[in-house]
Amino acid sequence: MGTSIRKWRRRDFLRTGVQAVAGSVIGLKVSTPVLGAPAIITNSFTPVAISSRNGMAATAKAIEIVENGGDCLDAAVAGVKIQEDDPEDTSVGYGGLPNERGVVQLDASVMHGETHRAGAVGALENIRYPSEVAKLVMERTNRVLLVGKGALEFARMYGFKEENLLTERARELWQYWIENRSKFDDYMTPKEDIENIPPQLRHYIENGGTINLNVLDTHGNLGGCTTTSGLSFKIPGRVGDSPIIGAGLYVDNEFGAAGSTGRGEANLQTCASFLVVEEMGRGKSPTDACIEVCRRVVERSKVEYLWRNDIPAFNVNFYAINTKGDFGCASILSGTEFTVNDGNGSRYVDAAYLYERK
Ligand code: GLY
Repeated sequence: MGTSIRKWRRRDFLRTGVQAVAGSVIGLKVSTPVLGAPAIITNSFTPVAISSRNGMAATAKAIEIVENGGDCLDAAVAGVKIQEDDPEDTSVGYGGLPNERGVVQLDASVMHGETHRAGAVGALENIRYPSEVAKLVMERTNRVLLVGKGALEFARMYGFKEENLLTERARELWQYWIENRSKFDDYMTPKEDIENIPPQLRHYIENGGTINLNVLDTHGNLGGCTTTSGLSFKIPGRVGDSPIIGAGLYVDNEFGAAGSTGRGEANLQTCASFLVVEEMGRGKSPTDACIEVCRRVVERSKVEYLWRNDIPAFNVNFYAINTKGDFGCASILSGTEFTVNDGNGSRYVDAAYLYERK
C-alpha cells in the first residue's frame, strides 16, 4: 500500500534553487523565461488528501481548495464539514448518535503542520461544526482544548447558532438501544436478542464512526482534522481520542500527518497518532507506520473483554501521509477501506491490516 508521488520538499527547493532558476530541475514549475527577465518559479507540491471511508466528498472538496492554492487546514475543515452537515452520517456532527441520555456530544481537533499549532473541543453540544470551533480555538486563543459548557460558550461568542443535532433517525436508534440494553430494565422489549439489532446499529456499537482528513497542500504544508460524535450511547461526558492531540490526530511538517478512527480509548492509551508520525520520522512508509502502531495498540490491549475468537474484538484505523505525499492506512481488523485523492479524483482503497475478521 502507499502510492509514491514524486514531489519537491521545501528543503529540496532550497538545495536545488540555483539549478531551478536555470530551469534544469524536474518537478518545479518554471515558467518560460522572457528574455532579460528572471524565470518565475512556483514551488508546487502535488496535493494529496487522505481520509476515512466516509471521506469521499471531503477529500474531493479538500483537493479542490488546495489545487486553487488554499491552505491544508482550511481544506481539511471545509472537507469534514460536509460530513458534519450530513444527517446520514450517524458518526459525525448533525445526525450523530447521541450519548446514553439522548444528547449529541461532539469532539473535534485540528492541527497545522507548519506552525505546529492545534485546537480542539470536547463534549460540545448543540453546535453542528465542532471542526470550525476547534480551528477557532487554535486561531483565536493561546489554548488548545476547550470542553463542555466552556466550549459551547466560546462557540456562541463567535456567533455559532445552537440547534438540536438529534435527528429522528438517531433518536430511533437511541430508543432501540435503550429498549434492548437489558432484560432486567423497565422496558417491555419485543426483541431482546442482541442478534436482532439492526446491522447499522451493530456497526456503530462495535466500530464507532468519525472522520479524519489529512491534507498536503501545494505549498508543502500538512494539516489535519478529526471530528466525531464519539462512541455511540456513551457515558455523558465521555471524550474519546478525536479531540486529543497525539491520540486522534497529530501533524508535524517535518515528518507527516496521521489521524485515527475506531476505539478511541485504545488510541488514548498509546498516543497512537503521535506514534504513527514518529514512525514515519524514523523512516517507515505511512502504511508500515500505521501497521506498526496497530501492533502496538494490540499489544497494549490485553484485557479479556477486548478479545473474541482469539482476535481483538475492537478496531482502530490509522490514516497517514508523509511530507512527500506518500499515503497509507492500516487497521487492526480486515475489511477497512479509506478514501484518497491525489488530484485524480477521490477513490476507495483497501487498508492494510493485522488480523482477518472472523
Ligand atoms: N475514535 C472516536 C472515538 O472513540 O470517540
